[in-house]
Amino acid sequence: MRPCLFLLLIMTGLMTGSSCHPTAPAPVPVERDSTEIKLAAGFLRGEALFLRHCAACHLPPEKKVTDNYMFVRLFDRMPSPSSRYFIRYIQDSKSLREAGDAYAIALHRYWEHPYDHHFRDSMTVSDIRNLIVYIRVAASK
Ligand code: HEC
Repeated sequence: MRPCLFLLLIMTGLMTGSSCHPTAPAPVPVERDSTEIKLAAGFLRGEALFLRHCAACHLPPEKKVTDNYMFVRLFDRMPSPSSRYFIRYIQDSKSLREAGDAYAIALHRYWEHPYDHHFRDSMTVSDIRNLIVYIRVAASK
C-alpha cells in the first residue's frame, strides 16, 4: 500500500506542476505589430505584387544587372513628395501627362514607349504602398 501512495503523490505533483520547475514569466502583451513586422510584411506583399504586375516589363529592383537603373534612387528622382507621386503615377500615368506633369511627359518622351500605367482599378493604395516598401528596400541592396 505504501509504495502505491508514494507513487500517487509523485504523479499528482508532476501533473499539477508543483515540482521544483519555476513557472514561466507571463508573456508581454503585444497591442500592435511592431514597425519592423509591418515593414517585413509590406516587403513580401510588395514583392509578390511586383512579380505579378510589373515583372513582365521591369526587372526586379534587387537584380544587380548593369542596365537595371530604373528603380535605383527612384524616390530621390521623382517629384516630391515622391511616395505620393509614385502612387499617382502607378494609378494612372496617362492622366498625369495629360494634366501637363513635366516629369511624366519627359519620361514618356525619353522611353518612346506607348505604355501607360493604369493600376487604379487593380491595386489599392495600400498595395501600392507595399510596392514602395519593396522597391525602396530591394533597390538599396
Ligand atoms: C507593359 C510594360 C510595363 C508594365 C507592366 C509596367 N511598366 Fe513601369 N514602365 C514601363 C515603361 C515603358 C516605362 C517608361 C516610361 C514610359 O514609357 O511612360 C515605365 C516606367 C516606370 C516608372 C518610372 C521610372 C522613372 O524613372 O521614374 C516606374 C516607377 C514604373 N514604371 C513602375 C512600374 C511598376 C511598379 C509596375 C507594376 C505595378 C509597372 N511599372 C508596370 C513599362 C511597364
